[in-house]
Amino acid sequence: MVAAWLWLLCFLVPQALPRAQPAELYVEVPENYGGNFPLYLTKLLLPREETEGQIVVSGDAGVAGEGLFAVDPESGFLLVTRALDREEQAEYQLQVTLETENRRVLWGPQPVRVRVKDENDQVPHFSQATYKVHLSRGTRPGVPFFFLEASDGDEPGTTNSDLRFHILNQAPAQPASDMFQLEPRLGALALSPEGSTSLEKALEGYYQLLVQVKDMGDQASGHQATATIDVSIVENTWVPLDPVHLAENLQVPYPHHIAQVHWNGGDVHYHLESQPQGPFDVDTEGKLYVTQELDREAQAEYLLQVWAQNTHSEDYAAPLELQVVVTDENDNAPICPPRGPSVSIPELSPPGTKVAKISAEDADAPSSPNSHVVYQLLSPEPEEPAELRAFELDSTSGSVTLGAAQLQAGQNILLQVLAMDLGGTDGGLSSTCEIPVTITDINDHAPEFTTSQIEPVSLPEDAEPGTLVTTLTATDADLEPAFRLMDFAIEAGDEEGTFSLDWEPDSAHVQLRLLKNLSYEAAPSHKLVVVVRNVEELVGPGPGPGATATVTVLVERVVPPPQLDRESYEASVPISTPAGSLLLTVQPSDPLSSPLRFSLVNDSEGWLCIKEISGEVHTARPLQGAQPGDMYTVLIEAQDADEPTLSTSATLVIHFLKALPAPTPTLAPVPSRHLCTPRQDHGVVVSGPREDPDRAGGHGPFSFALGPNPTVQRDWRLRALNGVCRGKPGGCGQGRGGAFGSRTPSHHEGGAGPGGSSLVTLIAAYGPNRVPCLPHLGPALGGAS
Ligand SMILES: *[C@@H]1O[C@H](CO)[C@@H](O)[C@H](O)[C@H]1NC(C)=O
Ligand SMILES: *[C@@H]1O[C@H](CO)[C@@H](O)[C@H](O)[C@H]1NC(C)=O
Repeated sequence: MVAAWLWLLCFLVPQALPRAQPAELYVEVPENYGGNFPLYLTKLLLPREETEGQIVVSGDAGVAGEGLFAVDPESGFLLVTRALDREEQAEYQLQVTLETENRRVLWGPQPVRVRVKDENDQVPHFSQATYKVHLSRGTRPGVPFFFLEASDGDEPGTTNSDLRFHILNQAPAQPASDMFQLEPRLGALALSPEGSTSLEKALEGYYQLLVQVKDMGDQASGHQATATIDVSIVENTWVPLDPVHLAENLQVPYPHHIAQVHWNGGDVHYHLESQPQGPFDVDTEGKLYVTQELDREAQAEYLLQVWAQNTHSEDYAAPLELQVVVTDENDNAPICPPRGPSVSIPELSPPGTKVAKISAEDADAPSSPNSHVVYQLLSPEPEEPAELRAFELDSTSGSVTLGAAQLQAGQNILLQVLAMDLGGTDGGLSSTCEIPVTITDINDHAPEFTTSQIEPVSLPEDAEPGTLVTTLTATDADLEPAFRLMDFAIEAGDEEGTFSLDWEPDSAHVQLRLLKNLSYEAAPSHKLVVVVRNVEELVGPGPGPGATATVTVLVERVVPPPQLDRESYEASVPISTPAGSLLLTVQPSDPLSSPLRFSLVNDSEGWLCIKEISGEVHTARPLQGAQPGDMYTVLIEAQDADEPTLSTSATLVIHFLKALPAPTPTLAPVPSRHLCTPRQDHGVVVSGPREDPDRAGGHGPFSFALGPNPTVQRDWRLRALNGVCRGKPGGCGQGRGGAFGSRTPSHHEGGAGPGGSSLVTLIAAYGPNRVPCLPHLGPALGGAS
């Protein structure tokens, strides 16, 4: 009794807490206590003064009722009345109170926890007496294929319930006695390495193992139990799988079963991995599924690995591999290459010239009809026959070449090509590809002059260098500005370099200009050949005749007009001056200049005449009607003998003076005579001499007139060439028709004195030839010769 007291004190843990809420008391009681009862557990601090109250112990259901725990009112000790079984109840929660009869609490409640301390009074036992287990051939050694289950009723976590497993016996002990190994703590049964290698040789398909379970851990003592494990060796069903072909876009309910694996031995669960990650799964029965539609273009192939694992996720064997091949469906249209910049093809490129090669990509399975793309030209629509086609397309390769029909430089064409898969058969997919093509210019046109033959150009000899002769214009049918640039040159006719060409680099006009002085003597005309060429090299046939232009330049001679020695002439003449008197001589200023032909322009009175060649001015007849002191002005014209258009004129002023005394002339009548023709009205009528008292010198004048016939009057004219020149046979204008071409009066008065002679020449008025009617009339007129 005293010993029990002492022992119990060791477990007493008094705690000082406020009275209102006493601290819990904790007491441990050995299970199956073998000493005397009641066993005092702990002293409660009951108040001494409150003695008339009643002590009540309450707690877990039934504890108080059974009277298991009580308080000794004398000593205030809590006591237990009999032995406790931990396996029945391991702990008790008690409340001790001191109450009045009418259940008023005088003290407490004082909580007390009573724990039953375990004793190894329980024997471990297997969950079954005999276990039936399958072991698949091919199971790796050391990988548990079965876990033994055993239990022990003693307190968990103590050595009393710490179990160890052992194989006591293996039957048969063939081909090795230690075919199996059992992990002592877990009870995990596995093939030993030895067993693994010899299992293939083992004919036996069955082993019986006697196994033991013992508590108290690794201590030699303890309770133990045995069981048998019947191990059946079964065939390995963990065999390689054939590849699975799955159509992409497959329209079936998902998940869709695709394969089955099976591990033949032991508890198994399956684990699946996909490389690359894919929508695949495996269920507990080893059925493999695809969980959603596949897309071959995203991933064409998967490699699945399936593991068979025991309950501890250890692999029984190497994983099985399953190849999943996604089969193609024609779900991709050919894709055209991106539209690039325009393809430039030079004009006149020969048929067959490569233009472009279209290569449409089809994402469907390579080298299957789904990705077999063929091509068809949509635009420009292929013409028939082939000669009319500008482009040819190879339907297989997609290469576009030039056709037979020529294209024009500057043309922009958008090629449209249909790319079709399934080799172009019905039901395929297609896309339209576009290729812009530009036909570029080449320099195939030579420049040409708009006119090759230029009207002759006349230039005066004194035209200044720099003078524009003519402007030539050329054209070029090419488009490219560089191919239209022109170069001009004088190819022939300008050996002296008299001319030059002038043009702006980008102009089609070239100016032919004079570079040096012209000389009529050196070259009265120039025939210039001007050529035009492209600056850039010409492609194709050379320039035609239009590349040459001929310009004829005619040089106009420039001769200075004749000049007389004086600007005006004057003479003073007595009014009695007889006909034929020399008054003065008009001369060129330069005696070496070309000969001049002189004439009087407006000698309206007919008083004067001028020798055509010598320029001597004579009186032509007596100055009848002139008054002393009067002035008479006539205009003298001097023509260049070689160049009749060149002429000059000067005035001649005659001052009349008083007459000189003169003898009276004797007049002899001269009958009228007809010249040239016997017919009076067609001929020239000569009459005179007339009586004229004023006439000086007494020379009888003759007057000449054309007959009255109108035809004669029209076609002929009469001119005295020699005037009346005393003592000078040949007269004033011997042998020359100085006034040819100008109108003269049809009646002309002339005169010849006795002893003189007159020469009259009749000249056709309009004909090119002078037709003398009678070369010499002297004898007929004067009778003097
Ligand atoms: C060209 O003519 C002009 C005027 O007629 C003259 O002054 C010049 O000297 C001449 N030049 C040559 C190179 O003969
Ligand atoms: C002749 O012409 C000149 C110049 O025109 C003139 O001065 C003169 O009076 C004219 N003479 C006669 C006779 O008409």
